[in-house]
Amino acid sequence: MQILVIGSGGREHALAWKIAQSPRVAKVWAAPGNAGIADVAECVPISASDIRLLADFAERTRIDLTVVGPELPLTLGIVDEFERRGLRIFGPRKDGAVVEGSKVFAKNFMKKHHIPTGFFQTFDRAEEAKRYIREIGAPLVVKADGLAAGKGVTVCFELSEALEAVEKIMDERLFGDAGERIVIEEYLEGEEVSFHALTDGVTVIPLASSRDHKRVFNEDQGPNTGGMGAYSPAPIITEPIHRQIMEQIMIPAVTGMAAEGRTYKGILYAGLMISGHAVKALEFNARLGDPETQSLLVRMESDLVPLLEAVVDGRLRDHMIDWNPDASVCVVMASKGYPGPYDHGALITGLEEAAAEPGIMIFHAGTSRVNDRIHTGGGRVLGVTGVGRDLQDAIAVTYRAVKKIHWEGAHYRTDIGTRAFTGTI
Ligand code: AMP
Ligand code: GLY
Repeated sequence: MQILVIGSGGREHALAWKIAQSPRVAKVWAAPGNAGIADVAECVPISASDIRLLADFAERTRIDLTVVGPELPLTLGIVDEFERRGLRIFGPRKDGAVVEGSKVFAKNFMKKHHIPTGFFQTFDRAEEAKRYIREIGAPLVVKADGLAAGKGVTVCFELSEALEAVEKIMDERLFGDAGERIVIEEYLEGEEVSFHALTDGVTVIPLASSRDHKRVFNEDQGPNTGGMGAYSPAPIITEPIHRQIMEQIMIPAVTGMAAEGRTYKGILYAGLMISGHAVKALEFNARLGDPETQSLLVRMESDLVPLLEAVVDGRLRDHMIDWNPDASVCVVMASKGYPGPYDHGALITGLEEAAAEPGIMIFHAGTSRVNDRIHTGGGRVLGVTGVGRDLQDAIAVTYRAVKKIHWEGAHYRTDIGTRAFTGTI
């Protein structure tokens, strides 16, 4: 088979790396890919959101299966376009991806299908939103409805922050049309986890548990990022909590989608808040998490390709997934300035020495190759991912490799995975 992976981040490097190991696969392509992906796939310079060009390429190259990494092409309808042309593609259609593309849709969907979540109200006028905020008081969370590159959510501990967030989104239109509507919701306290499942619209198979670290600095300080690291498994997901998540959140979401005529195939990723025995959904995503994917795929023993095909063909009930019982940790190394405006073009050294460490896989995110040397080319640059016999061991293995990699201004958290022991961050 020939498989095309769409995207250019660490998640897509992990996907391409895993797919390339399948005995069923003759060739992996990536669009647009990055310098690390180029080691396992042939990269073609087509943007991940240029749906027409991607479909033309898949037709011309006789791609047997396309796997979509990021949310934007899914919400733009890449699956609908590929299906229209008779091309096989993994991911939900536009009418399913809306669960990530519109937070107003997601919250109304959860309410309608009795999926536990915080209380909320939606608004399309700033004045009414502000009146509501003054009525209920802080803390609360203000969210732009549409995709806003991960920046559309403001957790507000003061009334003034919430009012300001509404002004930025609705009056100043910081996120354009994505801010035409907003959700104001209950602030939920607890431990945040990422729960992923594969589904063909009927059968739902959970992936291993994982958690990501969204804040830029140690001990969850500083602004939110796309994710500074992840680990798997997450001990907080005990057997009863796992059952509760499947029964109250994942299965109702997939059957709810089907009941609305939005048959959902692909990955469903729920962002959850766990507090004691209570689990509530913060949000749904229509794709794999980044960097959770890196920590998950190094533990997946099953061949990923038959699973992806079973989703597309509606045969998932015949499958199961085997996981390595070891633990994994992914530490994201970022450019100077990230998550604000960041540096580009710094020379990265020590990659080969780090990659030679046992149990280590280095997934590239924002990198580029110039004259056979690897340079930084994005905010999140590398996801150094290590496997160990337990979490403590995986942390030690991973940081040993991280310390061998250098570039001007590189920064990373030094506490990835440790909250599994302390439970405090
Ligand atoms: P989202 O884009 O919905 O994932 O939100 C980004 C981050 O904001 C989440 O990962 C949480 O850390 C935080 N967040 C979102 N909604 C809430 C909520 N209702 N209560 C507390 N924190 C939240
Ligand atoms: N790691 C968070 C996300 O992918 O949305």
